[in-house]
Amino acid sequence: VPRSFDRRGFLTAAGSGAVGLAVGAGPGLAAGRSPAVSAESVPFHGEHQAGIATAAQDRLFFATFDLTVETKAELRELLREWTAAARAMTAGGTVGPAGGRLDAPPADTGEAVGLPPAKLTMTFGLGETIFEQGGADRFGLAARRPIRLTPIGALPGDELEAARSGGDLCVQACADDPTVAFHAVRNLARIARGGAVLRWSQLGFGRTSSTQSSQSTARNLQGFKDGTRNIRGDDAEAMKRFVWVGDEEPAAWFRRGSYLVARRIRMRIETWDHSSLGDQEQTIGRFKASGAPLTGRHEHDTPDLEARRRDGLHVIPAGAHIRLAAPSTNGGERILRRGYSYTDGIDPVTGELDAGLFFVAFQRDPHKQFVEIQRRLGEHDALGEYIVHTGSGLFAIPPGVRPGELVAQGLF
Ligand code: HEM
Repeated sequence: VPRSFDRRGFLTAAGSGAVGLAVGAGPGLAAGRSPAVSAESVPFHGEHQAGIATAAQDRLFFATFDLTVETKAELRELLREWTAAARAMTAGGTVGPAGGRLDAPPADTGEAVGLPPAKLTMTFGLGETIFEQGGADRFGLAARRPIRLTPIGALPGDELEAARSGGDLCVQACADDPTVAFHAVRNLARIARGGAVLRWSQLGFGRTSSTQSSQSTARNLQGFKDGTRNIRGDDAEAMKRFVWVGDEEPAAWFRRGSYLVARRIRMRIETWDHSSLGDQEQTIGRFKASGAPLTGRHEHDTPDLEARRRDGLHVIPAGAHIRLAAPSTNGGERILRRGYSYTDGIDPVTGELDAGLFFVAFQRDPHKQFVEIQRRLGEHDALGEYIVHTGSGLFAIPPGVRPGELVAQGLF
């Protein structure tokens, strides 16, 4: 394994011929040099992978990969190399030392040199096709497959594109700096060369969820506060009940893991922008400016789904997004949302912006939680007129990594 070096010691070290600073010292060093918030690093090791309960950063680079390796041993080796790289990069390091041979590509691609850790988290997931592909036990891992890792299937209103769906592996890289997030995934792709190829990817900006109670609520591209009633990562009870896989999982290695559902949801921005403020508020069930439910005054007032107007109709309409997504409409189920806004330029056919929400949610049982909620939303949500789901992925997120271990260690 190549040693790794603090990105901010890198330039001087390379110039002076001295070797860089060991990565263990990285976060402290970085913090010492800049008061900026993004000088902080998020610990890579822990009971659960970072990037779920930890505070949502500003930027996302999400990618999925298809494997070209053919054996379990090769898959393990790839994950071992990825783990080492992720450990280094999340601490603000480079993937290898500065300098190197002039006749070989540099170990690190270099674009993040000089940048702080920026709270980079890298969260790894396994697709169903690692355990079974075309009916075959591809890597001899079928017996260790997480029990809920079965296809989501078609949902009402889906217009999924194969080229934006699925994958054998996924990585969610989040950071407060877009170059840091990009660099993280790019270097995994480079390391994987010959063993895995990128399948699809998505850049995201402007978090659309708060995942810690200390975070304020950001707005999505429809201009509404998004994440008000999200599960907070510091709500240990809710995390245990709705997000972390528990003893129901027969594959013991996967307990304390979670399931990630990604959906690329395009917004019909032009249609939305021509709908009246009243329509927009009825669609969501909240006031646009304050984020308060239509039955309340302040953002965090509890929505009253029973309240009726004089004409007998519900104040929060039957088709309002927050009614249909509410726990009380969904057998008490909740999910942890951790999505981002995205734009991929302009649709060449319509001239409209291709922009929307890259929805990411974590849960203990994707079928009981995401699928049930989305089935209801897809059928009845007033928001359906303004959005279309164009990409999808379901990944099993292995539990956290300990020092010296690799991601999904228990799988091998
Ligand atoms: C572009 C698509 C979407 C937009 C613009 C959107 C927007 C919003 C907004 C503005 C809120 C209210 C604030 C809050 O509590 O966070 C909300 C709540 C929520 N949304 Fe979405 N959402 C979208 C897609 C989805 C999808 C696909 C799901 C799950 C299948 C979902 C599940 C939820 C849940 C569970 C809540 C909280 C409900 C509650 O407890 O009150 N949303 N969403």
